[in-house]
Amino acid sequence: MARAYTNIALIKYWGKKNKQYKLPYTNSLSLTLDRFYTDTLATTIDNDKDIISLNDKLLNDAESKRIRSYLDIVRQMYSFDDHFQITTINHVPTSAGFASSASGFAALAGAINETKKLNLNRKQLSILARNGSGSASRSIYGGFVEWIAGRDNESSFAVPIDETPDIDLTLLSVVINQHSKKISSTVGMENSVKSSPFYSNWVTLVSSEIKEIKQAIAQKDLQKIGEISEHNAMSMHALTLSANPSFTYFAPETIQIIQLIKEIRQKGIFAYATIDAGPNVKIICTKESIQRVQTYIKQQLSNVTTVVANIGHGIEYI
Ligand code: DP6
Repeated sequence: MARAYTNIALIKYWGKKNKQYKLPYTNSLSLTLDRFYTDTLATTIDNDKDIISLNDKLLNDAESKRIRSYLDIVRQMYSFDDHFQITTINHVPTSAGFASSASGFAALAGAINETKKLNLNRKQLSILARNGSGSASRSIYGGFVEWIAGRDNESSFAVPIDETPDIDLTLLSVVINQHSKKISSTVGMENSVKSSPFYSNWVTLVSSEIKEIKQAIAQKDLQKIGEISEHNAMSMHALTLSANPSFTYFAPETIQIIQLIKEIRQKGIFAYATIDAGPNVKIICTKESIQRVQTYIKQQLSNVTTVVANIGHGIEYI
């Protein structure tokens, strides 16, 4: 069985130059987290259709469409025609505010590697995971990870920057209860690429922010890491507001929390925001600041839940 952890991008992946292979326009950089993970077991079966279950529930055709198409890609990439029984347990509760596609496709790539004895190294695993979901390419490694955009299917993969960083960073996920219709990241980034007049500026910005944040990581400059991450996240969300038609992942509480984080900083407490393709805010904290940040947010907004996560490690077989 393969176990992969989720990751949070500090420099976001937002836009594909090639949809088939999920090749991004830019590099991206993330931190793998320790609390939320996916366990996946793949066994080959004598059947002409894959059988897929998630959290002990058999998925129907519509629910498993994305996984089935992924398995078709894997069969094609490695020239075999076995079908699989896929058993997945997701330890990424939606109530924690993280997406599960990163850990999910990384664990699935690992599970097939294990069952089919493909003996893939981590670079090859990252390529395989990327074909399921872009952000999954980074969940192969622990700690700080960079996904190199590359030119084609062979040259686009993640590399570790520091898998066990000795750095005082911890993450507070603030979960907003929201029931509005979701725009997937796949569709959201496509709309941004197509219609935001700022998309080319984003590509330029990411290339300089990647360099800056890597320097800040090497120097363990927490404030710089926080500042760059927050700026990058806000710039990504500017691409949704400037798309045509415009859209946003923000809920009213998302903006409230962004403002609270600025207040918290004014009190001299370490806190920076990052936000993915949803309303929840992830607050980058230190071990010292997290308690005070949590208390402050909960005092001001009674309706949110918070979850703490630390730095986690790469894919493992158990
Ligand atoms: C905002 O990896 O979910 O979380 O490749 O289409 O599956 P697909 O997209 P996905 O996008 C993640 C977007 C993000 C930023 C990030 O994780 O880098």
